[in-house]
Amino acid sequence: MCGITAFTGKDAALPILLSGLEKLEYRGYDSAGITLVDDQGLYTKKAKGRLKDLEGMLDVPSFHQTTGIGHTRWATHGVPSQLNSHPHTNAANTISIVHNGIIENYEGIKADLKAKGYKFQSETDSEVIVHLLDYYYDGNMLEAMKKTVNQLDGSFAICILTTDEPDTVYVAKTASPMVLGKSENGTFAASDIPAILEYTKDVLILEDGQMAKLTPSDISVYSFEGESVDAKWTHIPYDIEAAQKGGYDTFMLKEIYEQPEAIRETLRGRVEKEKIHLEDLEKLDLEKINRVYFVACGTAWHAGIYANSLFQKWIDVPSICVAASEFRYSDPHIDDKTLCVYISQSGETADTLAALKMSKEKGAQTISIVNVLGSSISRASDVTLYTCAGPEIAVASTKAFTTQLALVTLLILKMAELRHTTVDCKAELLEGLKRMPEVVSEMLDKHELMKQYAAFLKNQEDAYFIGRQLDYVSVLEGALKLKEVSYVHADAYFAGELKHGAIALIEKDTVVIAMATQPEVAAKTISNIEETMARGANVILITTKDQPAPKFKYVIRIPDVHPLLAVIPVTILLQLFAYYAAVEKGRDVDKPRNLAKSVTVE
Ligand code: F6R
Repeated sequence: MCGITAFTGKDAALPILLSGLEKLEYRGYDSAGITLVDDQGLYTKKAKGRLKDLEGMLDVPSFHQTTGIGHTRWATHGVPSQLNSHPHTNAANTISIVHNGIIENYEGIKADLKAKGYKFQSETDSEVIVHLLDYYYDGNMLEAMKKTVNQLDGSFAICILTTDEPDTVYVAKTASPMVLGKSENGTFAASDIPAILEYTKDVLILEDGQMAKLTPSDISVYSFEGESVDAKWTHIPYDIEAAQKGGYDTFMLKEIYEQPEAIRETLRGRVEKEKIHLEDLEKLDLEKINRVYFVACGTAWHAGIYANSLFQKWIDVPSICVAASEFRYSDPHIDDKTLCVYISQSGETADTLAALKMSKEKGAQTISIVNVLGSSISRASDVTLYTCAGPEIAVASTKAFTTQLALVTLLILKMAELRHTTVDCKAELLEGLKRMPEVVSEMLDKHELMKQYAAFLKNQEDAYFIGRQLDYVSVLEGALKLKEVSYVHADAYFAGELKHGAIALIEKDTVVIAMATQPEVAAKTISNIEETMARGANVILITTKDQPAPKFKYVIRIPDVHPLLAVIPVTILLQLFAYYAAVEKGRDVDKPRNLAKSVTVE
């Protein structure tokens, strides 16, 4: 995820670009850059680091140019660096582009362009775009764009400047967001509405397969075939703060709804038919591993429990998942035959980082699953695999967790492959993961139902989450989410453990959220749930399409997914449940009391 902006009009472009980028920094902040253009040519400046680092390099009032493009980066191909920052320019310095998205077939295009004599400055996939434009450009930019975009696979939103038309911006998009806007002073393009809302509330949401030409007074939209398109303008009725939340009431709800896209981005380029592309793992010597630890905190620890369950199912090496705060003080057996896998959204959690450093000192090989690029945990690990959830702003983790589940599934399948272990259901799981964004969307459509069920907690102080086997991961996560955002006391139990004590707490109207998605144990879970109903519990059952559940009043059935993947759709329902319970109780959903987004203390 990156953020892009563009402006052409009567006013100086630079302050408009910088204020737009500031609103887009949530989309990425490891480097930033701008290009301005006038009849003297292109002026490009870029910097590694935050937007303020770029601003510090520019004497803003001295730039009079009225046309420009800007970029704030969340690196996907190529580390955060000055060279990998956008904009990218052609060798003659006559064309400049910014790009958000991933060009999946960039390696082939790069090889062709190199054979034609093009020299590359960066490691990015994006740089192929500017050289392709240069190759096709013969004075007509729309024609060059037509040829270029039709050659690109993947996702892209692009803004383009050329010195031949210093008062024009060209844009194109597919599968990455792009909004255009028009005011009396000029025209705008950006990745998201907040970047332009200060200047205009009349926006045009560009659709996939469309490109446009922006001049100071007009915007013309075309299809990728070059046909003129009648575009639809929309008036945005809300203010900037609401716009940053994308029209959602809170960041947590926005991030819950971003999960189809976050999972799609995390899988992008990593699964090709039955092949899993996690080539970085080849840097490790996995053949010699004789012990594995999965280590993390909180929600990420739940992803670790899931990873460990898959690992134990398929790979004949002892493994365990341990909370980082315990692991670091437990004097674990670690040597160079040990693999430690760390999972962290922020990549900065103090306990996880300390555990990682300790295991490295003892000689372990280390992998981290991290969401924030360049974070401390990613820098300290032998191999880092990034979840591509994009910045998570709400304190409660949602999209980071489900992307961790998707990525660890790929990781464990790949580890099995590297250790020559056959996983019979591999093809089914990969297919299931590819379909997961649609499955997640189907779960999001159940928001009204989850709101209705969350209201059961109105006069309740407690809730019990129960399930067996892999359902226990959803149980743990559902209970944690409910506690942290609604402050309702929630316990997580193995369904079979209730009768060993906690069932004493179940009385009339106690809310029990029960998961029964694992075919071998679902019937047993159902009879445990019936034991709670016999004591008056108000049960919400989440189960599969085929599971008989005649005695239950409140049943939600998840779509057909492989049972090993059921935790993802179930989690979406539980996130919505926790969210609406918190709203019902009037809590500060995005910033629950006593919590911080990144726990950098012990
Ligand atoms: C819960 C939550 C926390 C984090 C935990 C680890 O919603 O967000 O439990 O999962 O503090 O944080 P990271 O993943 O950043 O290491």
